[in-house]
Amino acid sequence: MTVDLTNDHEGKVVRGLEGVVAAETDISYVDGVNGDLYYKGYNIHDIADNTTSYIEVVHLLLHSELPTKKQLSDFRREIVTDMRIPTQVVDMMKIMPPSSHPMDVLRTAVSALAYFDPDTSDNSYEANYRKGIRLIAQIPTLVASLYRIRNGNSILSPDPNINTAANILYMFHGKLPTKLQTRAMDLILLLHADHGLNASTFAARVTASTHADMHAAVTTALGTLKGPLHGGANERVMKMLKEITDVAEVDEYISTMLSQGQRVMGFGHRVYKKEDPRTAHLREMSEELCSKRGNQKLYEISHSIEEHVFKVKGIYPNVDFYSATVQHALGIPEEFYTTIFAASRISGWVAHILDQYENNRLIRPTSKYTGKFNREFLPISER
Ligand code: COA
Repeated sequence: MTVDLTNDHEGKVVRGLEGVVAAETDISYVDGVNGDLYYKGYNIHDIADNTTSYIEVVHLLLHSELPTKKQLSDFRREIVTDMRIPTQVVDMMKIMPPSSHPMDVLRTAVSALAYFDPDTSDNSYEANYRKGIRLIAQIPTLVASLYRIRNGNSILSPDPNINTAANILYMFHGKLPTKLQTRAMDLILLLHADHGLNASTFAARVTASTHADMHAAVTTALGTLKGPLHGGANERVMKMLKEITDVAEVDEYISTMLSQGQRVMGFGHRVYKKEDPRTAHLREMSEELCSKRGNQKLYEISHSIEEHVFKVKGIYPNVDFYSATVQHALGIPEEFYTTIFAASRISGWVAHILDQYENNRLIRPTSKYTGKFNREFLPISER
């Protein structure tokens, strides 16, 4: 038998698919050269400075336009109405081992939501849109409910009169958040909502490209987001911050890490060659919240890490770095940070999954084969 060695076996391998253009999309654009980010053509700085809530951003991502006042209030109601989760899924979360990571429980719970969704087997655009809205609404409730289960508290129903950001904090802590706390959570949600063809979004699109259902694609994305090189970085940032008790320790701590070839979590990015544009907004919010809570030291340590890493490696903090201290100030425990990321990125995932279904071609790249051919096959009795 002759073997064709001229085709995909000899293709050029692009490690980590860096620079490979794998989809066309008008949802968001990461401008790595200039350090800019656009959602549907709007610069992230304008979005961060001017939107009234994350819900506006969800409307923009799913409907391509910023909502009018009436559209926003209708859309908010549409989402709030869908925030409740089936009691069976709550019961399932209750029996998960207390040591299980919240991201693992969330992944399993989202997968289980499919069993109770009236549209699971319908892959029409309308059904997928409805499922997408339900997931955008339900993931925040799953996350907050799991937190309360873990703390032995009864879970709270979402308040229909407040938006997603306020509801997350309300369902976590059992009291209505202040304006500043709500603004901080809104900022986290709207800054994490979408980010080009990041790893979890790409993973979601791969699953959707096989015509698997919305819940399957989102479950895939959750598994991918968990990794410390992606959404799991924010949890590691807080672990690192907890090990440094004073600004004076920063230089030595970071120098030791780098000399051991370790990565400083919350730094570096595949696409941005300048500072991640989301960082400035979270840095500012982190400083304000830390000082209001009398925890200025935490901010100072963070800032000193930033200066030191830049001096030594020339790399900038990414969105995960100050998201950690903002979430800490909001009373979210570190093992839940990535679930909050997921509670936001679900809107981008849904937009991309719908986009993939509309313009689908199976995503199926090829690999460069480095193995042998035509090895002699010995029957088991002769090996
Ligand atoms: N700490 C220390 N060095 C880092 C670094 C970090 N966080 N991120 C990148 N680098 C260095 C690498 O060591 C490498 O240096 P070298 O050329 O001297 O070997 C160089 O920067 C390029 O890194 P590379 O691994 O090729 O970049 P990548 O595009 O494959 O990886 C990340 C991108 C995000 C995975 C990487 O920056 C990282 O691991 N960051 C920490 C995890 C994190 O914060 N993830 C969230 C991303 S939003």
